[in-house]
Amino acid sequence: MAFPFPTFTTPFHSTVYPSISPTNPSLSAAKKTILITGGGSGIGKAIAIAFATAGARAVIILGRSSSTLSAASGEISAAATASGHVTAVKSFVADIRDATAVSNAVKSVREEFGGIDVFVANAGDLYMSTIENAVAEDWWRSFETNVKGTLNCMQSFVHHGLKPAAEGALPPTFINVATIAAHIPPGFGMSAYSSSKLATWKMAAYLDAEMGDRLRVFTIHPGNVATAMSDKAGTPQLDDATLPGGFCAWLAATPEADFLRGRFISVNWDVEELLRRKSEIVEKNMLSMELSGWGA
Ligand SMILES: NC(=O)c1ccc[n+]([C@@H]2O[C@H](COP(=O)([O-])OP(=O)(O)OC[C@H]3O[C@@H](n4cnc5c(N)ncnc54)[C@H](OP(=O)(O)O)[C@@H]3O)[C@@H](O)[C@H]2O)c1
Repeated sequence: MAFPFPTFTTPFHSTVYPSISPTNPSLSAAKKTILITGGGSGIGKAIAIAFATAGARAVIILGRSSSTLSAASGEISAAATASGHVTAVKSFVADIRDATAVSNAVKSVREEFGGIDVFVANAGDLYMSTIENAVAEDWWRSFETNVKGTLNCMQSFVHHGLKPAAEGALPPTFINVATIAAHIPPGFGMSAYSSSKLATWKMAAYLDAEMGDRLRVFTIHPGNVATAMSDKAGTPQLDDATLPGGFCAWLAATPEADFLRGRFISVNWDVEELLRRKSEIVEKNMLSMELSGWGA
């Protein structure tokens, strides 16, 4: 069901499907170390479970609540075991607004695992209010978490966590989790959330351009996934969290997805159709944030 979001591909998915299933052998995460912020719940936990199911060497989750992280670690380990994999699962209590805390976690991961192959900047903050009624400090917390927090993740990863790619292997990957809410008409009192998430898309495009061949950078835009955050927002819960989970596993494992770096990608869109339409998307500069991408 496409409502209320626009779709670019004819299939519009709400749950994981074979091409992005982490059990698909072509999406193997073998030997890879993955770090997911906000990996203790919701979409982040689903992404962690997807990489564990795909056989990652290590899945690292980061968040502020140790009890949430601890409960999720058990589920992530169980997913790896159920898929026949041995995956190290570790967690770090850290607030992404604290650059030192994020860097310290990344340095620890580098010491133990030699670096990070895939960094998923998923943790986010949703403050709901009209601008007229907003408490400025609360409104600004969304920017501190979503914008400054994402900057801290980017810098910690590229300064301390990048694992040199093996000969012939893909460079490390950074996946920024933004939102469709940044691209639809204003609604639900989400000005802090939508505008801060929109900023992260541009930041990720800069990081991708600046790092060149040293790093692959994507921004994904989930729709309405059933989590605590969408519960708080009161938005309809249309999608299963396995959808962004599988989409991240697909991006990390698929060199052919590189033309989507810097572009708008909805996790609801069908990856096979996106791949088939690569020439059209690239030649017409579609799904980009430059004006030419919007038909100007
Ligand atoms: N649900 C949706 O429909 C939807 C749609 C589009 C995009 N998204 C995006 O998906 C991401 C995950 O959201 P969700 O729906 O899964 O919500 P969620 O279940 O509330 O998860 C948010 C996660 O982020 C962590 N977190 C929040 N602030 C943090 C901070 N300052 N430092 C470290 N960790 C922090 C939380 O853990 P602690 O509280 O323990 O720190 C939690 O694990 C967010 O970026 C959100 O914007 C969600």
